[in-house]
Amino acid sequence: MTETAIRLADYQPFSHLLPEVDLTFRLSPDATRVSARLHFAPNPGRAGHPDLRLDGEGLRLLSISLDGKQLDLTPDAQGLTIPAALLPNRPFTLQTEVEIAPAANTALEGLYISNGMYCTQCEAEGFRKITFYPDRPDVMARFSVRIEADLPVKLSNGNPTAQGPGWAEWHDPWPKPAYLFALVAGDLRAHSDSFTTMSGREVALNIWVRPGDETRCGYAMGALQRAMRWDETAYGREYDLDLFNIVAVDDFNMGAMENKGLNIFNSRYVLALPETATDDDFARIEAIIAHEYFHNWTGNRITCRDWFQLCLKEGLTVFRDQQFSGDMRSQAVKRIEDVALLRARQFREDGGPLAHPVRPDTYVEINNFYTATVYEKGAEVIGMLKLLVGDADYARALDLYFARHDGQAATIEDWLKVFEDTTGRDLAQFKRWYTEAGTPRLKVTDDWQEGTYTLHLQQDLPPTPGQPTKAPKLIPVALGLLNPNGDEVLPTVVLELSQTRQSFSFPGLASRPVPSLLRGFSAPVILERETPAAERALLLAHDTDPFNKWEAGRALAKDALARMILDGAEASRDWLDAMARVAQDDSLDPAFRALALRLPGEDDMAQTLHAAGHVPDPAAIHAARTRMTQALAQTLAPNLHALIARHSTPGPYSSDAAAAGPRALRLAALALQSRLDAGAAAAALAAAADNMTDQIGALSCLLEIGKGQPELDRFAARWSGDRLVMDKWFGLQIGLAAPDQAAAVTERLTRHPLFDWKNPNRFRAVFGALAANHAGFHQASGAAYRLTADWLLKLDALNPQSAARMSTAFETWARYDADRQGMIRAELSRMLATQGLSRDLAEMAGRMLG
Ligand code: PHE
Ligand code: ZN
Repeated sequence: MTETAIRLADYQPFSHLLPEVDLTFRLSPDATRVSARLHFAPNPGRAGHPDLRLDGEGLRLLSISLDGKQLDLTPDAQGLTIPAALLPNRPFTLQTEVEIAPAANTALEGLYISNGMYCTQCEAEGFRKITFYPDRPDVMARFSVRIEADLPVKLSNGNPTAQGPGWAEWHDPWPKPAYLFALVAGDLRAHSDSFTTMSGREVALNIWVRPGDETRCGYAMGALQRAMRWDETAYGREYDLDLFNIVAVDDFNMGAMENKGLNIFNSRYVLALPETATDDDFARIEAIIAHEYFHNWTGNRITCRDWFQLCLKEGLTVFRDQQFSGDMRSQAVKRIEDVALLRARQFREDGGPLAHPVRPDTYVEINNFYTATVYEKGAEVIGMLKLLVGDADYARALDLYFARHDGQAATIEDWLKVFEDTTGRDLAQFKRWYTEAGTPRLKVTDDWQEGTYTLHLQQDLPPTPGQPTKAPKLIPVALGLLNPNGDEVLPTVVLELSQTRQSFSFPGLASRPVPSLLRGFSAPVILERETPAAERALLLAHDTDPFNKWEAGRALAKDALARMILDGAEASRDWLDAMARVAQDDSLDPAFRALALRLPGEDDMAQTLHAAGHVPDPAAIHAARTRMTQALAQTLAPNLHALIARHSTPGPYSSDAAAAGPRALRLAALALQSRLDAGAAAAALAAAADNMTDQIGALSCLLEIGKGQPELDRFAARWSGDRLVMDKWFGLQIGLAAPDQAAAVTERLTRHPLFDWKNPNRFRAVFGALAANHAGFHQASGAAYRLTADWLLKLDALNPQSAARMSTAFETWARYDADRQGMIRAELSRMLATQGLSRDLAEMAGRMLG
């Protein structure tokens, strides 16, 4: 495989401008005709008289003409070059006609068919599978689209302009790059509503779904309306078309896509009823609906100059959706969940062979860079920036960003410049967060002398692929101090660590304080400090910062679990007592208590042990965690009944945070209770449950203690006709299978008649769950490694993008013992040696092997 890397340093503006585009689609499953009229003009920003290069893949070229004159040109495998000699030095129109076969498109990129419905996915480089085009985000055009098809609903971006029997025409007044183009056609039904913008314009809202699903759109519609209002009040951003359409499709590689005025969603992030969706599903739907909507300004009105700048739109839009969810629900709980996810996904990525900067400077396949680093760390970087400049200057900088760059394809340099211009700060050092990979380690020691408390901070920046050494970063460390009684003696201040080593002193204190460091997780770093358990217990009991309160409990749990794994210790009394207090403390939000009672995950422990110089043993981690859960169940035994009873939510189901919190706490208690009553209470809830949260919660309790089979069968009998619900059924039994059973259960389920492996959700439900079952995936025989590699290879032949994304199951190989390392490397090598392997999977396997 000799694929050439694309480099940021090689960026050049495009040879031409393309103000207007007219497209006509004659839809047919095997022979769709696409004719394109591209109205080009020479780009005054480009010197000389360059060739015109168009991207195009898998297109059958039927005709090409320039200003009406036939051209005699043959495309290559990647596109078409029109030599400069044929190009006039004035505006001209290039017209092409191509034929494509959407029914044969299994990669789900470009134009494809899902359950009889035509739809497109163009980000990042899918438009080149539709027609010959300069498929790059800095070429922005106004699109007019005509769709001809014998289907009742035909949609594209912007506003409808005309329609007749068998055709519809659309015009999008906002110039956009091709990756934001979308087309949908099929027999669809709408759930419709409207929204009145802050300036009083009425916007028609539609969520388009397959017939029968229109009853499941109410929650998504409400979420959309909340998101539209929030973007007005929080960022002053108003919607800019008369129509906003969302379409739900069953076969979709990602979560959703922000096409201008026509968002396309994986149906799992739209369709929800209390009977079919869990509280977590509702929260995710709200977040993703908002995320895609927020892209209208951060992504569409202001887009990316090139794909290296992906974090410009994604980091910012994730940050905005996190703020929104916090406002809709609980900021404290949302922050804890976001940090947990960041550590589980992004720290894992940053600590392994796939580590890359938030703004990478080279790639082979851009689809491989829609990562936790670009998205989640990209959002953290913005959170740090906001903390450093303050809320008021953040708001002013954003206003400047929208004013200055509206209609442009921008860069991270542009983004930082608005902050520099707003605040007068030099952000050159801060920019390293964008250009350097790896999770910094923040080492902290302290001393106390005559009323002065001093913190000594040191940052260590680990080497990452291609970046052996690094200069110090600017790390905002939010700090509070508590006295030994637990009273706050220093409310939050933000220390700016800009050198490798720096000390900060706090004079005039009556007694040696307890530091509450990195409040709100003020920087995405790994904090290393020898902290006595008593200090952690004090912070858990008294910290005013809810994130650090939770963090103290988590750190206690991780210390205790590490001792159980490494020394065979008993579960720590300190931790058990602390958890008993948290569980019973009715002054605490039930959602917070549910999170606090959650034990550290096994992958998290493996990561932590590896970082501390140990070789993690997945079986030992699993066994110790099981013992720890049992000990917690015994400690809380006297209170579990009351806890469960007091947090039952009577009356009709509501998906809001006020109802979801108690449900989460009740289910956390039920999981412990199941270890004591052999699942009796869980079985009762499973039988009585009137919503999916309780049903899945009860089933999980039963599966965890190896008693899930009867309930699994009942569940399948009830839900076998529901694709989204059955994804849960597949995933749950694999994710919670005993370690020595996980591969066998997975293998058996791949032979289940409902294992439709071409559907990305179903494939991910199965193999994502296997990868998430830490002890099962890393079971000593290597059976799960083999099974996963076999199926990734099979999927790669049809859907490279999904196969490559799922291959990250193997990214942690270097943590483990020589046997496991050898087995994983052998699977990666086997993949790499496979004839016809996609560029996507080849790049991933190659990077993982190093
Ligand atoms: N841009 C989409 C989002 O973040 C993600 C996506 C990328 C979807 C590529 C499809 C393909 O919201
Ligand atoms: Zn996004």
